[in-house]
Amino acid sequence: MKTAICYYSRHHGNTRKVLEAMAGEGDVDLINVTTRQVVRLEEYDCIGFASGVYFGKVHDGVLAFARQYLPQGKPVFFVCTYGGAKGTGVKALSEIAEAKGCPVLGEFGCKGYDTFGPFKLVGGIAKGHPDARDLEDARSFFHQIQDRLS
Ligand SMILES: Cc1cc2nc3c(=O)[nH]c(=O)nc-3n(C[C@H](O)[C@H](O)[C@H](O)COP(=O)(O)O)c2cc1C
Repeated sequence: MKTAICYYSRHHGNTRKVLEAMAGEGDVDLINVTTRQVVRLEEYDCIGFASGVYFGKVHDGVLAFARQYLPQGKPVFFVCTYGGAKGTGVKALSEIAEAKGCPVLGEFGCKGYDTFGPFKLVGGIAKGHPDARDLEDARSFFHQIQDRLS
């Protein structure tokens, strides 16, 4: 199963760490949505979209990428990291997937070290995350996605 995960990870690289754990478990290409590149998502069996949660949402760059490049009907999954709570972070991604007839295979989220704004003054929240347990959970989640497609 060939998988692409299109991501934005900027604050502390938390989301990227989670994706690297998943990528170690299979044939996965990590695609940074902020890099100029030729994109051919048709070549993949499954597409992930991943982002930190910023002001309660996934990054606009990931949404724009999904709108532009996600092929109709392609199975998708979502990954996010957040300092406090994921809230409705991936709602907009779900709506894009639905509009394109793409089945959603699952959603993974975990905490990610957050020093934004006032949290910096107290040394940040969700310190140490993603931790070893988070990464193990991420690997298990990715195995479930693979099993659902095989
Ligand atoms: C500008 C900004 C806004 C954020 N807004 C939220 C938020 O609304 N809810 C939350 O739980 N975490 C919030 N966070 C924390 C991030 O979601 C968390 O640190 C995440 O792991 C960052 O992922 P990254 O390191 O891959 O960019 C925010 C962080 C930044 C920098």
